[in-house]
Amino acid sequence: MTTQRDNPSRVRRSLLAVLPMAAALGACRPDAPTVTLPAPRGAGGEPPVQGEAGPGGLRQAGVDRPAQPQTHAVVSVYDLPSHAGPAGVVARLGEAVLELTAKPGKALTVTVGLGPRLVGPAVLGVASGLELPAFAREERTARTWGGDLLVQVCASDPVAVGLADKRLAQALTAEGASGRWSQTGFRPPGNGPVRNLLGFPDGIENPRTRPEMDREVWLDGPGPLADGTIAVVRRLRIDATGFLAQSAARQEEAIGRRKSDGAPLSGGEALDRLDLSAKTPRGRYLVPAMAHARRANPNATGSGRMLRRGYSYHNGPTDQGLLFVSFQRRLRTFTATQRRLDDGDDLMRFVTATASGAFFVPRAFTPERPLGGGVLGEQG
Ligand code: HEM
Repeated sequence: MTTQRDNPSRVRRSLLAVLPMAAALGACRPDAPTVTLPAPRGAGGEPPVQGEAGPGGLRQAGVDRPAQPQTHAVVSVYDLPSHAGPAGVVARLGEAVLELTAKPGKALTVTVGLGPRLVGPAVLGVASGLELPAFAREERTARTWGGDLLVQVCASDPVAVGLADKRLAQALTAEGASGRWSQTGFRPPGNGPVRNLLGFPDGIENPRTRPEMDREVWLDGPGPLADGTIAVVRRLRIDATGFLAQSAARQEEAIGRRKSDGAPLSGGEALDRLDLSAKTPRGRYLVPAMAHARRANPNATGSGRMLRRGYSYHNGPTDQGLLFVSFQRRLRTFTATQRRLDDGDDLMRFVTATASGAFFVPRAFTPERPLGGGVLGEQG
């Protein structure tokens, strides 16, 4: 039997039905304050979203569940103390997460990732491990690049996000960990793709069905990596004023999709796939050569497909943009895509990375199976 989850075209059609609602909300103007989004109905009674059984165990929440990302998030990156073995600290962080997410409410999820110092090339089985190379348009600072531990907290309510983040920060600080950087983010409510700070529907081309997630996002077993995934987190400042000063047609050419409904410039309806070969009668690509969606398309990058699950952020008039979060089973999916964008992309001209890191998100944990078990060695 084919379920709605397994049928991409039906999923697309049902997403289509809700996009105009998201458009009407128009909640993500660059000048919009960060916390004016109405909470989804029934938010107070929403249960927490915990680990889901995968073929080799449990998968952490906050990656592909809940299917529709919650409206608020905070990403915090820490360093672990060098004197203590990481396994014990990470296992105790897992216990604090289990305690927090056991209480029903606000669709709270906590997703933990382990940085390059904790999960090296030998564990991952690739020579480059989790190290990201240098890319174009980066403002690197020692504090905002890399890090040992990623803690992503998402919920339908900003206060729940803030309280959970604080509670976990306290637990980690008590263990001798130190905070590197932290960023809150928001997205409009609604099913399917929602608008980003530039007003374009974002998150259209993403793996959605269970087979797509298994193929592109989750690692399989046997072994300690099973049911894990690799997260890339980057804070991308957007020169929204510069981008929006362009004509509407130019903006659409820079993205490769229509602003009103996300339809590809190659034709078709909202949320349809791009036809990269479609040309005008005079032989020009309908989706221009430097359009972001063309440059990032897996057929152009020769990589797998990533799951993009980012949030807008707004720290003030000169610092706003995208808290980019992607999940993929190979780091190469991200690096090959980013390199292709660096080589030419009419959106990236307006984008600067100000924080960055890659993390291995191990399988979910239970009181019996500690967080990081099998990957980090003996507990200290
Ligand atoms: C501020 C930065 C960015 C903005 C505002 C942005 C926005 C968008 C928009 C509006 C789309 C078209 C709709 C969709 O398919 O979701 C898109 C597509 C996409 N973006 Fe980005 N993006 C940004 C950065 C990035 C980065 C850094 C990457 C990865 C390195 C990336 C990867 C992708 C991919 C893979 C697609 C789908 C392409 C396809 O197959 O059609 N984006 N993005």
